[in-house]
Amino acid sequence: MKLLHIDSSILGEGSVSRQLTASIVEQFRKADPSIEVITRDLVAEPVPHMTIATLPAANPDLRDDLKQLQSADIVVIGAPMYNFSVPTQLKAWIDRIAIAGESFRYTETGPEGLLGGRRVIVALSRGGHYGAGTPAESLEHTETYLRSVFGFIGITPEFIAADGIGLGPDARTAAIEKALGDVSALAA
Ligand SMILES: Cc1cc2nc3c(=O)[nH]c(=O)nc-3n(C[C@H](O)[C@H](O)[C@H](O)COP(=O)(O)O)c2cc1C
Repeated sequence: MKLLHIDSSILGEGSVSRQLTASIVEQFRKADPSIEVITRDLVAEPVPHMTIATLPAANPDLRDDLKQLQSADIVVIGAPMYNFSVPTQLKAWIDRIAIAGESFRYTETGPEGLLGGRRVIVALSRGGHYGAGTPAESLEHTETYLRSVFGFIGITPEFIAADGIGLGPDARTAAIEKALGDVSALAA
C-alpha cells in the first residue's frame, strides 16, 4: 500500500492543514504499519510554474509527479485557502498531473477520468466560513476547484475541513479540534 502525502501550506509549523495531513497520515500508519509513505512538500521543493517550454503534455520527462500519483493507492493533500483558492504551489502540481491521454481523455461521449481507483483525502483550512447559505459562499474556490479537477481525472475526493481559522483563538482551537475529530472518524 502506497500513500502520497502532499503539503502546500507556506506557514510551516503554524500550518493548520499540515497538522491535519500529519494526523491523517499517522492514522493510516497505525492501521497499516507497513504502508509506504512518500512525502511531497510543495513549498520546500516547489514545482516550477508551467511555461510553454515546460508543458507537461509535450514533455515526457516532466512526468515524475504524474507517476507518483499513478503509483499511489491513497493521496493525502493539505490545501489551505489563500486568496479564495488553492496555494500557487498546489496549482503548479496540478498543472503537472492534468495531462490529456494520461489522467483524462476526451471520448465521443465527453471527457473521461483515467485515475479512478485511488482514494484522495484533502485537508482544507480556511480563515472564514464558506458553507451553503453563508454570505461568502460564492467566494469558495478551494474545495469546489479540487472537487472539479479531481472529478475530471476520475477521483471523488473526501474532505476534512477546519473553517474559521482567522476568527480568533477560540474559533481556531474549536475548528482544529473538530477537524481532528473528523480525522479520527475517517475509515482507514
Ligand atoms: C496569504 C494568505 C491568504 C489567505 N487568504 C484567505 C482567503 O482568501 N480566505 C480565507 O478565508 N482565509 C484566507 N487565509 C487564511 C487561511 O486560509 C488560514 O490561515 C488557513 O489556516 C491557512 O492554512 P494553513 O494554516 O495550512 O496555511 C489566508 C491566509 C494567508 C496566509
